[in-house]
Amino acid sequence: MKGLILSGGKGTRLRPITYTSAKQLVPVANRPVLFFGIDAMARAGIEEVGIIIAPETGGEIREAVGDGAQFGVRITYIEQDAPLGLAHAVLTAEPFLGDDAFVMYLGDNLLQGGIDELVREFEERRPDASILLTPVPDPQHFGVAELEDGRVVRLQEKPPEPRTDLALVGVYLFSPLIHDAARAIEPSARGELEITDAIQHLVDTGRRVEPHVVRGWWKDTGRLEDMLEANRLVLDTIETRVEGELVDSQVEGRVVVEPGARLERCTVRGPAVIGAGAQLTDAYIGPYTAVGEGCVVERAEVEHSILLLGSSVRGLDGRMESSLLGRNVRIGRGAAQPRAYRFMVGDNSEIGIL
Ligand code: DAU
Repeated sequence: MKGLILSGGKGTRLRPITYTSAKQLVPVANRPVLFFGIDAMARAGIEEVGIIIAPETGGEIREAVGDGAQFGVRITYIEQDAPLGLAHAVLTAEPFLGDDAFVMYLGDNLLQGGIDELVREFEERRPDASILLTPVPDPQHFGVAELEDGRVVRLQEKPPEPRTDLALVGVYLFSPLIHDAARAIEPSARGELEITDAIQHLVDTGRRVEPHVVRGWWKDTGRLEDMLEANRLVLDTIETRVEGELVDSQVEGRVVVEPGARLERCTVRGPAVIGAGAQLTDAYIGPYTAVGEGCVVERAEVEHSILLLGSSVRGLDGRMESSLLGRNVRIGRGAAQPRAYRFMVGDNSEIGIL
């Protein structure tokens, strides 16, 4: 069985971060989201993994993932000229996939518990497709499934009035029949070839599509609040490891301090991770915070937040929380008069003032 990870697309809901970076590389607990999907494939024994990339962000994905040796898989990059839909991505990957069955994993999705069991079951039962479902409070934002007697009868992509609360999780297992199904459908109202419609085509032509309701948590990290929630869920699973330097500082609960990080007069209350080379002084880092590599936090309190590579937070009166800072963002109190807020912020940014 092969693997296909979809890491193209536009990432409009995570702007401005995704103006300069692929959404699949935004880190969760200091690890790019995409890496969790590749890990899951490797653990399930999949050796050949294709990654769909977009022309704009493909370069940095190649740089971060490399040839796959760090994960124990072989990676083939497949460029999709434009984000014309998940079924279009499958067709783009057809020369790589050939006649093999495959697992498709959306590069911005996180699924607890991995895919080992799903792959094993698919190989034993050999259905034409296997889909994963989970009840959600807002099904109108997802593909939605309707079951009858445990069988899939209808799938709809983001229906305004969903008939059930069962969302399609972004992990699918397919036989090669999916290619013909993807060729048979028309673009949806949003102009995309929807994988949901291709699977519906399999159902309509009498093929065997098996549903699995997932038990663990699942997150689509497309929006800020989902990203923070994914960060929280993954940080909940870390084990304490302190390799950086602590000077008059204490760590409480489960905390990772990477090598080269230096904490002086700080308290870190886990679960939290402090990236390599970060410099924290007179700071408080609260639960569910991921401080990226080379970040600086001075005279400030940060909680339930994600700070990407090289960002700094200095001299804040109030605690910063539920925030996502991109790379090399600088937030700080300045000495200059008159006392005023001074911003230099990219398009589509959001700032909340106390
Ligand atoms: O997250 C689960 C949902 O994912 C499902 O419930 C929906 O049925 C499914 O259509 C999909 O919906 P989204 O609107 O969230 O998909 P998104 O556009 O975010 O794309 C998912 C991933 O696939 C993302 O990593 C980008 C990548 N992608 C997307 C498109 C449209 C591609 O590589 N190529 C594409 O053409």
